[in-house]
Amino acid sequence: MERFSLWLNRNSMYVALLAALIATCGSLYFSEVRGYVPCVLCWYQRILMYPLTGVIAVGLLRRDRNLPYYILPFSIYGVGMSGYHYLLEKTDLFAGSAACAQGVSCTTQWINWFGFVTIPFLAFTAFLIITLMSVIALLNGEPAAEDEEGERLRTPWLQVSGVVVAVLAVFAALFISGSSGQAAASAAPSPFATMAVTPGPQILIDGAVSDPATLARGEQLYLQSCAACHGMDGLGVTNLGNQLRNSEFLANNTDAEVLAVIRQGRELNDPLNTTGLVMPPSGGRPDLSDADILAIIQYMRQ
Ligand code: HEC
Repeated sequence: MERFSLWLNRNSMYVALLAALIATCGSLYFSEVRGYVPCVLCWYQRILMYPLTGVIAVGLLRRDRNLPYYILPFSIYGVGMSGYHYLLEKTDLFAGSAACAQGVSCTTQWINWFGFVTIPFLAFTAFLIITLMSVIALLNGEPAAEDEEGERLRTPWLQVSGVVVAVLAVFAALFISGSSGQAAASAAPSPFATMAVTPGPQILIDGAVSDPATLARGEQLYLQSCAACHGMDGLGVTNLGNQLRNSEFLANNTDAEVLAVIRQGRELNDPLNTTGLVMPPSGGRPDLSDADILAIIQYMRQ
């Protein structure tokens, strides 16, 4: 334990550099390889995170004692911003917030690992680590520019570039394997391309009678959760979501099948993906119950 805290005292700024690099590459991986669309609040967090990779690296190389003072304004704002974003996703505390009225909704949860780890949660963790490491460095007055004998310490080129190269190598591998998967997916023939267009009658296999209350609930949930990508009118939004009105997919599948597709979402490498855009699992609303989604399906079929 004592050894660990000694190690941490000496290397806190390297840990911060590692966290900033992983957060930066990770967010680029999610948006550029996996196709998850960053919302407005995500962009604000990126603005705070990305410059830290450079600031921390240069501060380490210059052995600048003031480095934590340059980091903290960014990382503390970042903790606040990502904390707010996470609460927006997971609670009703800020319901009716005007954030993200345009483009993809800030409450769309692209990932929801273990039921609580979303992208803002990851950002929050990174900003928190960077903040704590800066506080530790502040308390220690590290890194020193000179040793006890007053001799100038050597510039830690090797250590800093080691951290940078290690993270970049891991993510380069992820980027390359991810984009080759994408190429394979887009080369695959689309199952919809060969399908005859039959704008036939809507089939309600489940025989559910759509009552006005369910429809109203479906409409409300659709506007909240799906309209940002599929359009208020169901006609789709360029670069976000496809048209659902008069959808063949809806016409040719039962409620249960549509529900399963919505629950699963469609990644870029899904052979059924036709648009090259990602549909998040449950439309990015893992909190919706089956009944909620069935109500949306009733509404969409109208
Ligand atoms: C972030 C944007 C986004 C959100 C939010 C979203 N979708 Fe989607 N959805 C998409 C994209 C993109 C596709 C097309 C994926 C593909 O190429 O197959 C899609 C496909 C679908 C399909 C399959 C349609 C077809 O023709 O293949 C259904 C059904 C659907 N979405 C329903 C919903 C519902 C219901 C909600 C709300 C709970 C929702 N979506 C929220 C982006 C979104």
